Amino acid sequence: MRDLDEMSALLLEWYDHQARAMPWRTGPDARKAGAIPDPYAVWMSEIMLQQTTVVTVKDYFNRFIARWPTVRDLAAAKDADVMAEWAGLGYYARARNLLKCARAVVADHDGTFPAEHAALLGLPGIGPYTAAAVSSIAFDLPHAVLDGNVERVMARVYDIHTPLPAAKPALMEKAQALTPDARPGDYAQAVMDLGATICTPKSPACGICPWRDACAARTAGTMADLPRKTPKKAKPVRHGTVYLGRRTDGAWLLETRPDKGLLGGMLGWPGSDWVDTSLPHPDSAPPARGDWEEIEGEVRHTFTHFHLILRVMAAELPHQTEPHQGTFKPLSDFRPTDLPTVMRKAFDLVR
Ligand code: ADE
Repeated sequence: MRDLDEMSALLLEWYDHQARAMPWRTGPDARKAGAIPDPYAVWMSEIMLQQTTVVTVKDYFNRFIARWPTVRDLAAAKDADVMAEWAGLGYYARARNLLKCARAVVADHDGTFPAEHAALLGLPGIGPYTAAAVSSIAFDLPHAVLDGNVERVMARVYDIHTPLPAAKPALMEKAQALTPDARPGDYAQAVMDLGATICTPKSPACGICPWRDACAARTAGTMADLPRKTPKKAKPVRHGTVYLGRRTDGAWLLETRPDKGLLGGMLGWPGSDWVDTSLPHPDSAPPARGDWEEIEGEVRHTFTHFHLILRVMAAELPHQTEPHQGTFKPLSDFRPTDLPTVMRKAFDLVR
């Protein structure tokens, strides 16, 4: 195995030429010219990038930064505006914590993100990965980032066959040992870029990899088998019903979901609980009296822990309707893009 300093130097040299341009990124040339990353932008991008691809995040990131350019602006935003702007990005607890974190930075840190890993960990929604990413990328402190890309790179470079997630501590140890004291922020992003562009899950481009001579899996010919993963349990299927009620003046019957729980704080259609397939089809009461009709087709959506199949009911409701679930949102106030994806799918079936 190569000397660790030599390894990080090889990767940084590669990054100097191959860094991907991203709207939140202060590239290697800009950094060398003295540009300092904005911790707010780094933090925002890292929260958005959890479980979400760079391509999807770009537009959301640009919209958020244009609308709320500083952490103080975001802290002062209305909850519903932030949740609506997040709609479609998924994992909505991230958006609720984004707001909580912005408010904590303003209230407890005078509007300035702390640099230290431990202080960052004390903020809402910031776990070990995000604390390491912000302290390294924004403040150039030598903390190792271990996301899925970096796990794959470490498992291959060191030919580690222990399956994930059990292998995480060993992979973290390797990632930390490789992290240099010089340019740790660039290094963190370099290793993520390497995993995203060269050390890819399928058909890695070993021939052009800056670590090709150092890679133990390449020597052993095991790249394609790594990282090993403990098989995941199959996801259960749940069923439910949603009611899309439209008043004669065009207003839609909607509710803001309770803060706690799935899709918390998001706009949605009133409906039943979501229950196991093994039970009979849930026949919940509609949110208002009306001539409800079942819409052809169904909504299918996958969450982290289950698949969901929704039956969609629709009705045209008289003007004097008094709903017992949800409230009418005037047409002028309703943007389908404010809906989380599963609710948007139901809307697309009906309109
Ligand atoms: N994934 C998460 N954060 C990233 C970053 N800063 N650069 C590249 N990929 C990333």
